[in-house]
Amino acid sequence: MTGAPFQSGEDFAVALDARDPLAQFRDRFYFPKTKSGDCIYLCGHSLGLQPKSARSYLEQELRDWAQLGVEGHFHAKNPWVPYHRLLTDQTAALVGALPSEVVVMNSLTVNLHLMMASFYRPTKQRHKILVERGAFPSDQYAVKSQINFHGFAPTSSLVELAPREGELCLRDEDVESLIDREADSIALIMLSGVNYVTGQVFDMAGITRAGHAKGCVVGFDLAHAAGNIPLRLHDWGSDFAVWCNYKYLNGGPGCVGGCFVHERHARAWGVPRFTGWWGHDEKTRFKMGPEFRPMVGAEGWQLSNPPILALAPLRASIEIFDEAGMDRLRTKGVTLTGYMEFLLGQQPSPKFSILTPREPDRRGAQLSIRLPHNGRDLCSRLIEQGVIGDWREPDTFRVAAVPLYNSYHDVYRFVERFLAAV
Ligand SMILES: Cc1ncc(COP(=O)(O)O)c(C=O)c1O
Repeated sequence: MTGAPFQSGEDFAVALDARDPLAQFRDRFYFPKTKSGDCIYLCGHSLGLQPKSARSYLEQELRDWAQLGVEGHFHAKNPWVPYHRLLTDQTAALVGALPSEVVVMNSLTVNLHLMMASFYRPTKQRHKILVERGAFPSDQYAVKSQINFHGFAPTSSLVELAPREGELCLRDEDVESLIDREADSIALIMLSGVNYVTGQVFDMAGITRAGHAKGCVVGFDLAHAAGNIPLRLHDWGSDFAVWCNYKYLNGGPGCVGGCFVHERHARAWGVPRFTGWWGHDEKTRFKMGPEFRPMVGAEGWQLSNPPILALAPLRASIEIFDEAGMDRLRTKGVTLTGYMEFLLGQQPSPKFSILTPREPDRRGAQLSIRLPHNGRDLCSRLIEQGVIGDWREPDTFRVAAVPLYNSYHDVYRFVERFLAAV
């Protein structure tokens, strides 16, 4: 619904909420209490809100632990040995994968290392990793350490994609032409699905196609994409992807991450991997033999037995997601973000600009607002007024109207306070 005939009055926001088919989901989440009492939470791109049902999922496991002790592994209401599989089908649907291609385990950076241990196989000729300039620091540290680990140097083995002079976002054609130019020496293309600063969505299908045509491995960091935009990892053919479940997926602080390994690697017995007992074939895992025999598919990259108490709240959230449906969430998300952009555009000012792409298919829920002068102070003032977004140095205020629990009225009230503060 871009180009929708939005109107600027508050009654319009109220009317949009009244006909929002997803409006009821808001009540399924706790909104933080702020000093002003009146919280406008626009920070789902950083930490999603707590589903009210998370407690009962967690309490079930605490009860079973209390009553069953170690027996809970096989006899809990939801036995703990296969507990992570309670998340598999819904997770696969969210990222557009086959169930055998996904596993919920570890955290994002750990999974990224595990994936690179298997799929970054540098040679003298092909040793480079392509990343976006200003990739999330953890990704930069991870890829540089992998380059070093293999005896290469980031100065010669790291290629960074940057926007054109004077531009803030990358152009799809520039990504592809760089892949074209450098591909013979690129071993791995490792980009985010949605850039964490700008909110730009990358053309993951096109990048995968272009990379594969040149013999590169293609992986994605979907921290800001999972649960935010529709994904079709299997069809795109990307080799692997990793993400966290605590942003749009509301699994709770530091929640377990997700990992996708394309079906074509399901039986990649030849590639090296860092292994642990939970990746061992479950039929013989408890025979405790010395030889590692991996499970087929993504589960073969598991290391440890799953942290049940960290997975329980994620189940609560994923089930809400399933009920709401990613298609409906995306439809609302496009309108909600478009509405925020429209309202911000009602009072243009040289003091701020939106750096997120304008086209709905090149962004998700997040809008990044550039505030070159005293932006940090402005953010602090907004927090005093109950507006929760976040600040990224040097000049970016990030806000996300999350379709699962934000309302049009949240957006209206945010923009009213933001423009007054500016
Ligand atoms: C884009 C991106 N990559 C990586 C990470 C690191 O995630 P983790 O701490 O779960 O490893 C984050 C965390 O916010 C992120 O936003």
